[in-house]
Amino acid sequence: MEEFANTVKETEDRYQLKTYAKLPLVLDRGRGCYVYDQDGNEYLDLYGGHAVVSTGHCHPRVVEALRTQAEGILFYSNVVYSSVRARAVKKLMELAGPPYWQAFLANSGSEANESAIKVARALTGRTDVLSLSNSFHGRTYGSLSSTGVSHYAEYLNTPVPGHRILDLQEVADAVDSDTAAVLLEPIQSMGGVEEVPEQTLHQIHDACRSHGAFLIFDEVQTGVGRTGSFLYAGTAGIYPEMVTLAKGIASGVPASALLVTREVAEKVRSGDLGATFGGAPMSCAAMEATLEVLEEEDLIRNAARIGSYLRQELETLPWVAEVRGRGLLLGIKIQGGTAKDLGRFLRTSRILAGTSSDPSVLRLMPPLVLGRKEADAFLEVVRNYEPGH
Ligand SMILES: Cc1ncc(COP(=O)(O)O)c(C=O)c1O
Repeated sequence: MEEFANTVKETEDRYQLKTYAKLPLVLDRGRGCYVYDQDGNEYLDLYGGHAVVSTGHCHPRVVEALRTQAEGILFYSNVVYSSVRARAVKKLMELAGPPYWQAFLANSGSEANESAIKVARALTGRTDVLSLSNSFHGRTYGSLSSTGVSHYAEYLNTPVPGHRILDLQEVADAVDSDTAAVLLEPIQSMGGVEEVPEQTLHQIHDACRSHGAFLIFDEVQTGVGRTGSFLYAGTAGIYPEMVTLAKGIASGVPASALLVTREVAEKVRSGDLGATFGGAPMSCAAMEATLEVLEEEDLIRNAARIGSYLRQELETLPWVAEVRGRGLLLGIKIQGGTAKDLGRFLRTSRILAGTSSDPSVLRLMPPLVLGRKEADAFLEVVRNYEPGH
């Protein structure tokens, strides 16, 4: 091995495969809506660690739950029962509410989507999985075969047979007796925070019902309160048979869930799905604490409230063509500028935000604890932005 590289950046770049475009930041500390670089500079995190830190960075309740759990037992798999798993999954299903009945606990959004696809294919005996252009569902083979954002999908030389990516308006008509499922994000986050119109959702749902296909909502970003309700499912009166959750579900500890209705649950048998680390005690401790904090601090309502405030203020800016999304999943469509440029501008004022696959859309997906003070600090900075300068 060569001599140890000097800096964190050099070391990481030397030893980690270069699969990510990174910001030139080393972040080893975070609290609430803020993160701190190596020099102690404070950044307002409107990227939320990638829509993950729902309760804010290092929420004391989550940290305490992890500490307590670590002193109890770090790990045992699903071959035994666990008190923290029992409590966490009960809480999850209570918040999800009917018609969701049971959950399969996994580790990532991709894995939850992969599991949903497998269940749909197994229970229907069909192969076709329809998804939307501009979508993002993950990096495993099935989830990537359902991903429409082309630069991700290009890495697959052969998508899983049966997966078809269609334009939004084509989907309902394409559902037929070979369709196992339609998998979609009700708001396409990576795709530029594009919401599927309610009417189209109904058409897709109706088509699935009449052909006996499953509807799966990928709520990896929209779920766990971010869009102003615990699940997006139900907001338009549509309850897909399966919903996937990840990212914000455990405030940053890897965890995900596939939620299914009772009808689906009753057809899943022992051995059909599995994951060594799914429902791990540490993930469940973080999940339970996260869900309790969401309720006790009224964070779902906060997401709706602060999201509306941000939208209303952003819409007054002359260069804002449109504010998309719901709650604290917002996309700012910039007229005459790019998200990259606005992101750079914000970073000079120590604010972090996200780009998307639409170069003109900047994404905000902050912790759900974002308050008026932080929203105003962001608005004060963003009001001084002039595209193209
Ligand atoms: C909507 C959506 N689905 C699935 C995934 C994949 O999740 P993970 O990276 O945890 O596998 C992501 C990740 O960004 C996502 O945004």
